[in-house]
Amino acid sequence: MRILTGLQPSGKLHIGNYFGAMEPAIRLQSQGEAFYFIANYHAMTSLHNGPELLANTRELAVDFLACGLDPAKAVFFRQSDVPEVNELAWILSTVCPMGLLERCHSYKDKVSKGLSANHALFAYPVLMAADILLYDSNLVPVGKDQKQHLEVTRDLAVKINEALGEGTLTIPEPMIRDDSAVVPGLDGQKMSKSYHNTIPMFGEEKPLRKLIMKIVSDSTPVEEPKPIENSTILALYKLFVTDAEYQSMVQSFQSGGFGYGHYKTQLWEAYWNYFAPMRARREEILADPGYVDAILQQGAERARETASHVLQRIRKATGLSA
Ligand code: ADP
Ligand code: TRP
Repeated sequence: MRILTGLQPSGKLHIGNYFGAMEPAIRLQSQGEAFYFIANYHAMTSLHNGPELLANTRELAVDFLACGLDPAKAVFFRQSDVPEVNELAWILSTVCPMGLLERCHSYKDKVSKGLSANHALFAYPVLMAADILLYDSNLVPVGKDQKQHLEVTRDLAVKINEALGEGTLTIPEPMIRDDSAVVPGLDGQKMSKSYHNTIPMFGEEKPLRKLIMKIVSDSTPVEEPKPIENSTILALYKLFVTDAEYQSMVQSFQSGGFGYGHYKTQLWEAYWNYFAPMRARREEILADPGYVDAILQQGAERARETASHVLQRIRKATGLSA
């Protein structure tokens, strides 16, 4: 079974990205043949700054490795190191109805947020389909926001198979993470770069501590019981501690006697300790710049080998090659 997913290098990673995307991908890396890539072509739909894209791409590679992506298990590569994906995107676009793309929420949302309605933003799902189909992927773990893109991918694969012959493309299965996995941000809304409410995974101790102390809480007096429903502090604390530690904070909330500052300090400690081994691993990786280059190069070679094999089959079916 081949498992594939991509992450856009669009800025500093936050703990929502970690628990929502990276940690599940890392858990899956031993369940099959994992292909994980940095979607730098996709990031270009909203970023036109070369040095920034390069730096973000590298930072994502470092952070993913620091979090436990194991290059011995997963093929880890940059999307642009396999430019063949663009050829498949073209082939797919020849069977892609305009209406299919016009219905995509993600495109409409991005345009309504002020991103320019350029062709790449519109054709984004076709490139994403090519990412998936180029590697004969069977399983694609993604967040709920990507569900529709997976449906487009399956539609396009079916259309190609109808036109060019069954078995030309492998139909992938989506693996959609459920809503309970949504990590709240500092203000209690979904943690997201676009809401400016994120807690980064890595950074300097002092500013991070200050940030956690800024989590929005209500004005329940110190001595009174605190509401546990919709508590951002509790929801975040749960991610970092054992069930017993979590239950003990819940009980303390219900008994009263402590202010929110006390709980935020506990949350801070849990967060800081949780990421300690990854911070240490990250420092080691940063101290050896050749390491990341070597991993990405090796990943690119392995990815390209699979991609060229699959593309060869598709080229034959289309009549592009004999
Ligand atoms: P952002 O919303 O900060 O722009 P992205 O859309 O780039 O984040 O998300 C990258 C990945 O991280 C996606 O798979 C997404 O589902 C996941 N993710 C982002 N924010 C959260 C969150 N608050 N909770 C759970 N998963 C998240
Ligand atoms: N569009 C995905 C996101 O924003 C990233 C992505 C690009 C992707 N290509 C992919 C995810 C292929 C899974 C499979 O999160």
